[in-house]
Amino acid sequence: MVIEVTNEQEMKSFGARLGRLLRGGEVIELVGDVGAGKTTLTKGIATGLNITEDVQSPSFTISRVYPARDGLTLAHYDFYRLQEAGIMGDELKETILNQKTITIIEWGGIVEGALPVDRLTLSIVAPTETVRRIIVEAHGTRSLEIEHGL
Ligand SMILES: Nc1ncnc2c1ncn2[C@@H]1O[C@H](COP(=O)(O)OP(=O)(O)O)[C@@H](O)[C@H]1O
Ligand SMILES: [Mg+2]
Repeated sequence: MVIEVTNEQEMKSFGARLGRLLRGGEVIELVGDVGAGKTTLTKGIATGLNITEDVQSPSFTISRVYPARDGLTLAHYDFYRLQEAGIMGDELKETILNQKTITIIEWGGIVEGALPVDRLTLSIVAPTETVRRIIVEAHGTRSLEIEHGL
């Protein structure tokens, strides 16, 4: 499935729509260049999870965690600055297994081995300054359910 948005607000709205579908245990992988809109999309997802805290890019801290609706937690990772998975890979595996957690991953290449098959991959391309094309790929039962709900 491919979705096109034409400005930042539409990206956030799409994220919120996706966020409202989440029930816990889902893994969302975000793929795209620097400035593609991965963190902006995550802010929208956070809105759909009723997170009121300001979602900040975790590129310096690698991970940030936010309490969300219904006793859920959003774990947002950005592995851009990480040279090797190391213990972060183990921490990530544990987070992913937690069915009360939604895991969002930017720059997941380094932790590829820790990622479950059943994940929703969103690849963002930017044909212009403000247009973003989001390619949605589901790799398993749960992620397919979410894609169909979008
Ligand atoms: N349609 C859009 N969707 C998302 N971001 C957009 C859009 N149009 C412009 N932008 C800008 O692109 C940048 C995206 O940054 P960010 O979300 O941090 O990207 P990434 O996390 O992929 O590096 C922001 O400065 C944002 O204002
Ligand atoms: Mg980012």
